[in-house]
Amino acid sequence: MVSVVSLDRLPALITSKQARVGVVGLGYVGLPLALELARAGFNVTGFDTNSARAASVNRGISHILDVSGEELAPLVRDGLLHAVDNFEQAGELDIIFICVPTPHDAAKAPDLSFVEAASREIGSHLRSGQLIILESTSYPGTTEEVMLPLLQASGLTPGEDFAVAFSPERVDPGNKAFDTHTTPKVVGGLTPRCSELTKLVFEQILDRQASVHIVSSPRAAEMTKLLENCFRSVNIALVNEMMLLCDRMGINVWEVIDAAATKPFGYMPFYPGPGVGGHCIPVDPYYLSWKARQYDFYTKFIELAAEINLSMPFYVVSRVAEALNSCEKSLRDSKVLLLGAAFKKDVNDARNSPSVRVMELLLKEGACLDYHDPYVEEVTVGLGIFSRRSRDIKLKAVRLDEATLKAADCVVITVAHSAYDFDWIVANSGLVVDTVNATRSIKAGSQKVVLI
Ligand SMILES: NC(=O)c1ccc[n+]([C@@H]2O[C@H](COP(=O)([O-])OP(=O)(O)OC[C@H]3O[C@@H](n4cnc5c(N)ncnc54)[C@H](O)[C@@H]3O)[C@@H](O)[C@H]2O)c1
Repeated sequence: MVSVVSLDRLPALITSKQARVGVVGLGYVGLPLALELARAGFNVTGFDTNSARAASVNRGISHILDVSGEELAPLVRDGLLHAVDNFEQAGELDIIFICVPTPHDAAKAPDLSFVEAASREIGSHLRSGQLIILESTSYPGTTEEVMLPLLQASGLTPGEDFAVAFSPERVDPGNKAFDTHTTPKVVGGLTPRCSELTKLVFEQILDRQASVHIVSSPRAAEMTKLLENCFRSVNIALVNEMMLLCDRMGINVWEVIDAAATKPFGYMPFYPGPGVGGHCIPVDPYYLSWKARQYDFYTKFIELAAEINLSMPFYVVSRVAEALNSCEKSLRDSKVLLLGAAFKKDVNDARNSPSVRVMELLLKEGACLDYHDPYVEEVTVGLGIFSRRSRDIKLKAVRLDEATLKAADCVVITVAHSAYDFDWIVANSGLVVDTVNATRSIKAGSQKVVLI
């Protein structure tokens, strides 16, 4: 039975944890959020159109490294968290978070189909008294221009009958210092009441040190997230460019970064590497440049940063070819072993991973490629863009042992997973190209390492 309530009742329901909460999308963002809400004592329903994912959550099994089965299973067992693969129960909930993907298409234009689908489903079950919070990263205007009209199809009035807010998710998978519980939140409601209600929800689940910062509108909150991610993209591009110059000038960029980082103000270190990956840094800036063009505005910094970051896998492959050349071997037909397929250290997410781009380029050049990653068993390598072989192919991770290392003409380190023993890797390899300075503290064999 769906009860008719008004927004006036929501504050008491939130502070008493009687509010029933839904989280749409149980991925890297949604599952940790659902866990925090359930831990705080809310009754949480997770919605995921991927039935297998919903079923595994109901068995207490997590697919995210940051959420352990030991944390998840008791909450499921105690009935605080359960997952479904359809929206039948959406009308029964008081608060619904939307944490669905916001990828770009092949031409790097925003793909909001997941936000639209989730909003349409919620809109068809919407009742008065509900609070809907969008957490997916998108361009300024998404909440009001894309989500809101689909919710209004219910005939209800936003801000009066139901509340709407945007609150960007800032979780950084693999980060041991900050997580969903300890990271401050930014909230932009459609009205001041929408903001206050959303703030109240976050205050129930956040650590006391983590504040909730209210901005004047959903658009300001959407732009905040894009500023944060463009800041990262631009600074990574800057240090990548510095690395290219240092290489040309025969200067060790890592030494320079360490030295600059001794300055206690006005500088924070960013590190070069094989490029940027994941669902955020290589995607979100394009959302902003796409939207900016509607205002006859060209985001030059952002596009330049993307250009430099996208060029890094090509540079890595040129350095691998050069390193092999110095051993009188050609890249074609050489055995190359790539270490790391995830987009960064200690995560199992290979979406938009620069390592996968490096794999595509190595294969295009005719290298005999194997890869290893402790967290990524299989990757799909798209060869269509770079070669006449138009099919995607799947590669499976090989076992990492002495024989595999010794058999490789060149070992390329693209991710410095903590699980790797780099002393052992270098000791058993003939030639190593290190793109992330993973070998900085190796004790012997540094003459075999090409650092880029
Ligand atoms: N991954 C990150 O580190 C991170 C950090 C901050 C913000 N974000 C943003 O958060 C959002 C989610 O990212 P993610 O990494 O958690 O994605 P994800 O792919 O890990 O998870 C999304 C989940 O949503 C499900 N889903 C898709 N459409 C659905 C629908 N209509 N209804 C219900 N479930 C649906 C998918 O099956 C999947 O399980 C994106 O906008 C992303 O940019 C991600």
